Amino acid sequence: MICIEIKRPGSPEVLVPVERPDPVPGPDEVLIRVAGSGVNRPDVLQRKGAYPVPPGASDIPGLEVSGTIAAVGSGVKQWKVDDRVCALVAGGGYATMCVAPAKQCLPVPQSVDLVEAGGIPETFFTVWTNVFDRGRLRAGETALFHGGSSGIGTTAIQLATARGATVLATAGSDEKCRACEELGAKQAINYKTADFVEAVLQLTDGKGVDLILDIVGGSYVSRNLEALAMDGRLVLIGFMSGESTAPVDFRRIMARRLTVTGSMLRPRSVEEKGQIATALRTEVWPLLDRGAVRPIVHRVLPLAQAAEAHRLMESSEHVGKIVLGR
Ligand SMILES: NC(=O)c1ccc[n+]([C@@H]2O[C@H](COP(=O)([O-])OP(=O)(O)OC[C@H]3O[C@@H](n4cnc5c(N)ncnc54)[C@H](OP(=O)(O)O)[C@@H]3O)[C@@H](O)[C@H]2O)c1
Repeated sequence: MICIEIKRPGSPEVLVPVERPDPVPGPDEVLIRVAGSGVNRPDVLQRKGAYPVPPGASDIPGLEVSGTIAAVGSGVKQWKVDDRVCALVAGGGYATMCVAPAKQCLPVPQSVDLVEAGGIPETFFTVWTNVFDRGRLRAGETALFHGGSSGIGTTAIQLATARGATVLATAGSDEKCRACEELGAKQAINYKTADFVEAVLQLTDGKGVDLILDIVGGSYVSRNLEALAMDGRLVLIGFMSGESTAPVDFRRIMARRLTVTGSMLRPRSVEEKGQIATALRTEVWPLLDRGAVRPIVHRVLPLAQAAEAHRLMESSEHVGKIVLGR
């Protein structure tokens, strides 16, 4: 197979295409002939040497793929050769062949192109487990998604809206704000020209929002607490600010009965990821099948241009996902 190696920690040009033997699926795994693989911020951190590969995972970057099944392990009953799937993987996605645990595969939704389906799993698994499971967002509640134009944000806006929540978002330009609103956000706030706490309080009649999904960290943490309503939940999943520590007034948490939580998807067990896949299949796949929710794909680049894909991601010019096609 052809795959992309990280030659050494560094800037995008350390991503180099090489030839390696095809991976061999274990008893509970499938081998996928990859059509598309999504690019995610954690891949950028891994390339820079700031995101260690979990034990047992491939050193090749790439957390999600789509394609057709080329072989199944001896214990796999639910998939067969030639099935079209998309899968969450713990690594190895930037390749022409990739193994995935059978439980972490889902069928390619009827309304989605095979290549673009490679941009579904990472954000849909992450948003489901953090917004609806851990964050308990319900219909009728209001959520704030920071980084509304990111891969994570474009997924969160669509899913929360489709499930009956009111959505506010932040983004770094007026153009990105409009894109968030086109996806269903009631209002998007340009965080470079407006204070998001003031804007949120104004838009919610001083009440605040029920849930915030934060990818920024640092100074946003205490500001998020100011923007949360009574019984509000803050779910931390990333630190785009580069700061993972922050001073917090715990009185605010006590007085407003707030919950502060977070999670990382990649190190979770196959069993846990399988449970998320089962919930997605029931709750979200019908929305994807009929096109009510879709992966927002900014650009598809050839696998050999992985370095260019990372440059594009780091420019933050994109809205939605960047996908490597074959
Ligand atoms: N915990 C988990 O399990 C998990 C899983 C997947 C991803 N993540 C995290 O989720 C985040 C988004 O990932 P992604 O793949 O969707 O990335 P992405 O599409 O590249 O989006 C990142 C966005 O962050 C915004 N941003 C950059 N610097 C910022 C800053 N200083 N303040 C505010 N916003 C900033 C940028 O938009 P603007 O133009 O608006 O600034 C950019 O669009 C990353 O932090 C990633 O590590 C976590």
